[in-house]
Amino acid sequence: MDIENIKKQFEEDLEKANTKEDLASLKVKYQGKKSEIYIALRSLGDLEEGLRKSRGAELNKLRNNVGYSIRAKENAISETKREAKIDYTEPGRKFELGHTHPITQIYEELFEIGKSLGFSIAEGPEIETDWYSFEALNIPKNHPARDFADTFYISEEVNLRPHTSNVQIRYMENHKPPIRIIAYGRTYRKDSDVTHTPMFHQLEGLFVDDRVTFADLKGVLTAFAQGIFGKDRKVRFRPHHFPFTEPSAEVDVSCGLCGGKGCRSCKYSGWLEILGAGMVHPNVLKNSGIDPKKYQGFAFGMGIERIAMLKYEIDDLRLFYDNDLRFLEQF
Ligand code: DAH
Repeated sequence: MDIENIKKQFEEDLEKANTKEDLASLKVKYQGKKSEIYIALRSLGDLEEGLRKSRGAELNKLRNNVGYSIRAKENAISETKREAKIDYTEPGRKFELGHTHPITQIYEELFEIGKSLGFSIAEGPEIETDWYSFEALNIPKNHPARDFADTFYISEEVNLRPHTSNVQIRYMENHKPPIRIIAYGRTYRKDSDVTHTPMFHQLEGLFVDDRVTFADLKGVLTAFAQGIFGKDRKVRFRPHHFPFTEPSAEVDVSCGLCGGKGCRSCKYSGWLEILGAGMVHPNVLKNSGIDPKKYQGFAFGMGIERIAMLKYEIDDLRLFYDNDLRFLEQF
């Protein structure tokens, strides 16, 4: 029996084998008890020594080769089978892309408007001292905002800032006019209902220079209000009181739902309050090391959650912090 012949025959058979079944019969033919290779191996003992050794080596080589080749072909067949199962026309799996939180989105819009008006962005600490949260801002000792019922106190001297107005003082301490900043960040108050959460966000504006007027304030705040709510919205200034500004105003935009005619959403007034503002009080400038005889300025502060609720017509603020994707995905 010619080893070369078996080898050639095997290669031909292997080439033709295309299924698992073909390979199974190949295994019987070349690896089984009745296979030529097996029989030849068994009869090696009948040969004289020299021939036995050389034929033995050749036969073993062939046997190993058959084994490898069959296994390789098996792998190749199961691989093509797996590929055949992939349906390339099937739609791809959906890739879920996250996005910024609606509160962050409002901030980003406000930053863009601020930057376009020449404001730069500032920050200050959330854990603050009595001086920066209240005293330097000209807030009298008996003012209700200083009450334990309203502000989170860590000690008599240290609190969680109830507004971002602290950044006004900190910034003016370290910078000379002209000053044009918007400050942002978390603020804290003991308030909790559908329109208040104990932690909320504010944007504070401060503009200090040597010829700043209330007209500048009106122009800047109209740009902010219309930038956020749309050019078709009207802006109105109502006299108000804040200890850190004089004169002070509350600013309203016309109601987007009724166009100013009056509806449930604006409590039939046609207007929605969006922020507080005014000309920086001389005491505040003085407390920050700026000469109120040479400089004056304006400031404003707004609650981001309130802006978001008005802009997106959401009546329960707590939805922003439930982290329910069905809500957040809408923005
Ligand atoms: N700090 C005020 C508040 O939290 C908002 C505010 C009003 C800020 C008038 C200002 C301002 O800078 O001029 O309610």
